[in-house]
Amino acid sequence: MKEGFFKKLLDNASDLIWAVDMEGRFIYINDNIKEWGYDKEELIGQPLLSILNAQRIGKRETRRSIMGIHQTYEMEIVDKKGTAHKVVVKSSPLEEDGNIVGVMGIIRDITELERLERKLKDEERLASLGRLATGIAHEIRNPLSSVKMNLSILKKRLSPKGVDVEHFEIAQEEVFHLEKIVSELLDYAKPIKLDLQICDLTQLMDVAISAVAAPCAERGITIRTDYDGKGHMALLDKTKITQALINILLNSVQASPENSEIFVGAETVKFPSSDRARVVIRDQGYGIPEDNLKYIFDPFFTTRKDGTGLGLSIVRNIVDNHEGSITIESEKGKGATVAIELPAR
Ligand SMILES: Nc1ncnc2c1ncn2[C@@H]1O[C@H](COP(=O)(O)OP(=O)(O)O)[C@@H](O)[C@H]1O
Ligand SMILES: [Mg+2]
Repeated sequence: MKEGFFKKLLDNASDLIWAVDMEGRFIYINDNIKEWGYDKEELIGQPLLSILNAQRIGKRETRRSIMGIHQTYEMEIVDKKGTAHKVVVKSSPLEEDGNIVGVMGIIRDITELERLERKLKDEERLASLGRLATGIAHEIRNPLSSVKMNLSILKKRLSPKGVDVEHFEIAQEEVFHLEKIVSELLDYAKPIKLDLQICDLTQLMDVAISAVAAPCAERGITIRTDYDGKGHMALLDKTKITQALINILLNSVQASPENSEIFVGAETVKFPSSDRARVVIRDQGYGIPEDNLKYIFDPFFTTRKDGTGLGLSIVRNIVDNHEGSITIESEKGKGATVAIELPAR
């Protein structure tokens, strides 16, 4: 076979194939290097270490690979733009006439693979968590309503006095909290069937705002709206989206200090493919520490004493089903900003 054939074979490989001399300088590198933003020419003669993220690899590992022992390891490579990629490196001695003259190897980018694996694992984890939780919720529902009924019968019949009133009330409040968890849980796990229609997102926002009027008034919180002077039409399920907006607003109200303001904005954003109707809810509350941000959509993640951790999981479900998107930006102590985008009409 012609030499050109092997060159093509190497250059078209989806992995980075390389060889270095005894000093660890590139003597060969295939075309794949372009995907890392480098030119072949600029790297030939340069040390392999110039593209490896030296921070993440121990000195020992570097030396071993230069000495030319067969080995496989994971490390990070920084592309020319400075983005780090997780890679698997396989290297082996490069021999010529029985002498080791360098090291050759391949480098495979596994960043995307790892991301997919993680996502799949997350989804599996959430799905089985959801199934388990719904099973339990169904089991709890009936006995719970029986407890509730019997408590109120007993309270009536015994007409308790003094601290006994308090004991009854605590028991009833706890039952109420459990009922809330059960109903939110069933809500969360119910397969969503949307009843889509074109309507004004800001109208639903107004409904959601009036739904939280009482807790706002209680703590002197004002809600300021700016809908860009008009309605913003989107294809949506009214009940579901209103519920999502209420969940988000309630979180903001709960996080807000007394006499603070919550801003609610709406606009239609133009995109080349399709326009999106966007609402933004911004509060001046205690915010979300960075470590928590990645968990806030997980069912049962809550930092509130009487929270269920299902509010945002339900919102996420609803928005996903609308082919919409949700983002939450926040910093500890600096309030939170939630944005939802839905297909505009
Ligand atoms: N606007 C907000 N400000 C501060 N923290 C928030 C906000 N929204 C959500 N969070 C955090 O996310 C967690 C999960 O929210 P959610 O799913 O609605 O459950 P819950 O309200 O029952 O705790 C909350 O416990 C809180 O820690
Ligand atoms: Mg909530």
